Formats: sequence, C-alpha cells, structure tokens
Amino acid sequence: MLLGVNIDHVATLRNARGGVEPDVIFAAEVCENNGATSITTHLREDRRHIKDEDVRTLIKTIKTKLNLEMAMADDIQKIALEIKPHSICLVPEKRQEVTTEGGLDVAGQFETVKNFIKPLLDAGIIVSLFIDPTEEQVKASAQTGAQFIEMHTGAYANAYGGEKEEEEFQKLKKGAELAQSLGLQVNAGHGLNYENVHRMHEIKGLYELNIGHSIISRAVFNGLPEAVCKMKDLIK
Ligand code: PXP
Repeated sequence: MLLGVNIDHVATLRNARGGVEPDVIFAAEVCENNGATSITTHLREDRRHIKDEDVRTLIKTIKTKLNLEMAMADDIQKIALEIKPHSICLVPEKRQEVTTEGGLDVAGQFETVKNFIKPLLDAGIIVSLFIDPTEEQVKASAQTGAQFIEMHTGAYANAYGGEKEEEEFQKLKKGAELAQSLGLQVNAGHGLNYENVHRMHEIKGLYELNIGHSIISRAVFNGLPEAVCKMKDLIK
C-alpha cells in the first residue's frame, strides 16, 4: 500500500503569519525523501491553505506524483489543465466546512461529474472520485470514466474504538470489493491516524492512502525538542 502525504496543513501554519515559513515546497521534499509516494494538496475555492503559486511550483519540484484535490469549479479545472498534475481527486466543497465533509454525490449529479472530468481525462490526468463507498456511489463512479475512487474513511475514523467501528469498516471493505470488481482502483483517506490505520491492511488491493492531519500533527511534536534545544543554544 502506498502513502500519499497531504501537506495542506503546512500551508495552514504558514498562512497564519502570512510569510513563507514553514515552506510547503520543502515539506513536500521531506515527505518524498522519507517514502511518500505522492504529495496531495487541496486547492480550495477560498485558498485557505494551498495557493495557486504553491501548486505551480510543486508541479516543477515534485519527484513523485502531484495529486491535486479539487471541487467542480471551472477556475480550478483551468489550473489543473494548465499544470497537468499526475492525478486529481474530485471532492465536494462547502465554504464553511473545516475539512471535507462527506463524499461527492456522483450518483446524484452523474452527468455533471462525467462532463466535468472529461477534459481532465482527455488531457491524460488520472481522475479519482472521493466518495462514501455505498453501492450507489461506487456503481455511478464506475460509469464516469474515472480510473480511481478514494473512499472517505472519516466515518470509520470517527467510529474507531466504538460500537459502530465494525459496521463502518465493513462499508469500506465491501465498497472496495465492489469498486475493484467494476474495474476501479481504490484509494482511501480522511481521518486516518496512527491508531486506526492498521485496519486498512484488511482491505485487499488498496492502492494508496492519503493522510495529512495526523502526520503533520505528529511532526510538530517530533520536531519540537530539536527546535527548542536549537533556540536555547543560540541564545545562551
Ligand atoms: N483525502 C481527501 C480527499 C481529503 O479531502 C483529505 C483532507 O483534505 C484527506 C484525504 C486527508 O485527510 P486527513 O487530513 O484527515 O488525513
């Protein structure tokens, strides 16, 4: 199973001060140097973390694959067609949400999704649809021409360790099996962390996990001792 690292929250931290630190381009390099097989960024409509110039630089500097998360917005589609990332992951987007809530309703807006992804597919960009792994959404996704789905693991992550964990996990397992039987490749992500990720091994043939928040959060604490010691050293 491959690991795509979502570096959006490095940009969140940078934007809190409006400067250049921490550098998202360097963050991508560090992730790649430590085994990330792709770098994911979500260019949101409100540009709250990753910005246009970030993706334009990342596409030139990345050594692995750039996976661009995006909503069905014409201006973002234009940027994707211009920079040509390895893949895009189509996600639903609401302005007020803190993070992506729920999967894309492919079944309910089938023609719109199909038409939106066509120019991206024609340009040779791999398309993944971020969905809740229900039978309806998986079957609809398989008809769009997209090569991948990414299963939303948020409900599983929220249920982890509780009485609904098994139920949510089985939805992922069945969704993956159905998708694979229909010729789709399957990724998964959202809310995965160091406690709950182990069950992803129970899902056969998962291609890549996209993980962001828990990795960046852990990095803060792993890096904090060195950061404090270095500053103490400089001011002593
Ligand atoms: N996959 C998709 C489609 C997402 O929107 C996100 C969050 O941006 C992730 C994966 C990563 O989620 P997390 O930051 O919770 O690991």
